[in-house]
Amino acid sequence: MDFSLTDKEQKLWERAKKFSLEHISPKASALEKRREFPKEIVQKAYEEGLMNLHIPEEAGGPGLSLLSETFVSEATGYGCAGIATSIMCNNLAFAPLVIGATIEQLKTYVKPLITGKEAKFGAFCLTERKAGSDAAAVATRAERDGDEYVITGTKCFATNGPQAELFTVFASTQPELKHKGLSVFMVPKSKNVKIGHIENKMGQLNSVQSEVIFEGARVPQECLVGKEGEGFKIAMQTLDMTRAGIAAIATGVAQRALDEAAKFANIRQQFGRPIGKFQGIGFKLADMGARTDAARHLTRYAAWLADQGMRNSKESSFAKFFASDAAMKNATQAVQIMGGYGYLEEYPVEKLMRDAKLLQIYEGTNEVQRLVASNAILKESVNLDTGFHVDYEGRDAPKM
Ligand code: CAA
Repeated sequence: MDFSLTDKEQKLWERAKKFSLEHISPKASALEKRREFPKEIVQKAYEEGLMNLHIPEEAGGPGLSLLSETFVSEATGYGCAGIATSIMCNNLAFAPLVIGATIEQLKTYVKPLITGKEAKFGAFCLTERKAGSDAAAVATRAERDGDEYVITGTKCFATNGPQAELFTVFASTQPELKHKGLSVFMVPKSKNVKIGHIENKMGQLNSVQSEVIFEGARVPQECLVGKEGEGFKIAMQTLDMTRAGIAAIATGVAQRALDEAAKFANIRQQFGRPIGKFQGIGFKLADMGARTDAARHLTRYAAWLADQGMRNSKESSFAKFFASDAAMKNATQAVQIMGGYGYLEEYPVEKLMRDAKLLQIYEGTNEVQRLVASNAILKESVNLDTGFHVDYEGRDAPKM
């Protein structure tokens, strides 16, 4: 087993960390007061080649691995989870297309967005007011009219919605079939695509989520991704890929909370010594470090599995819930270790705590992750041989 990175991976990791320390960390707190899309930083990240990493080379992208993407997500997440979300959100928007679209479709609809001078955006439109965890309950309709589909419905929580030029929309082509009637479409911005309510959040204020309203938006037949009825499967495959990315942002937050708390614990003197020398604080730091490393390993393993073409639903759910719980726990501990300073807006850790909370919620709540993981575990256990053979439903006690 080799934990080392290739030269190319190491360079990307170093470049992303440098970018984050120079352009994200110093500006994140001031920027979040504006509650705006961090346009300039995202543009810089685009120019640095830190966006759209998984788009295949034939479609104008760098065609990098999911593992490589986790380096950029972690490094940018270390600087600010909201800015990382703004930078990395094209991964979510375009993943269904990388999975289900043809190279021709990618060339026509995605390439122009990722090869120009200006950063351009897509938005992933699955969630609706009444279809959150129950993704199959989507009410948005796509009706065939000649050579076109007409899309009608309202999506919510669409990251980069107001910035997007292309919407990846999950809509029902046959509602009576429930999840088997869902299909996915590429919908370019048009006068029939309107931006509705922009959400006011507790944290991750450097990212923007909005409603997107499709008022009979017409798209040609070629905008259908895959076949009719494949939308739910593509959505699930997408989330298997992108949850590792959220886990990576969370690992960045967990690491940042540890680093800020450790720095403080070294400097802050009480009762004649640095507070880190008290076991009550030192042991907290040890647990925070172990959680961060475990989160990073789960994340990279989940991404690596996908890169090998192996199904990683269980592992990406493990990574997502473990890493985001680690981020939340570490941020809360950092606030506690830093005491009054931890609670003040002038210091970085109260923001980490607000930002971490969303990591436990978006791209599938951590309860959904545990559902996916427990279903996989139960399925695997059906034919599992533990060496202890007993009929649990029989009346006789096992023979020892
Ligand atoms: N890969 C391939 N196929 C899959 C799959 C996967 N990972 N997961 C499920 N499927 C298939 C199943 O095999 C099954 O196929 P058949 O019908 O052919 O047998 C079908 O999909 C239905 O599967 P389930 O019965 O498991 O589906 P379910 O409805 O019980 O629940 C769920 C699935 C895990 C709860 C799912 O609905 C889910 O992940 N919900 C959360 C959605 C989510 O993450 N939303 C957030 C989106 S991000 C967003 O909106 C923006 C933002 O956060 C900011």
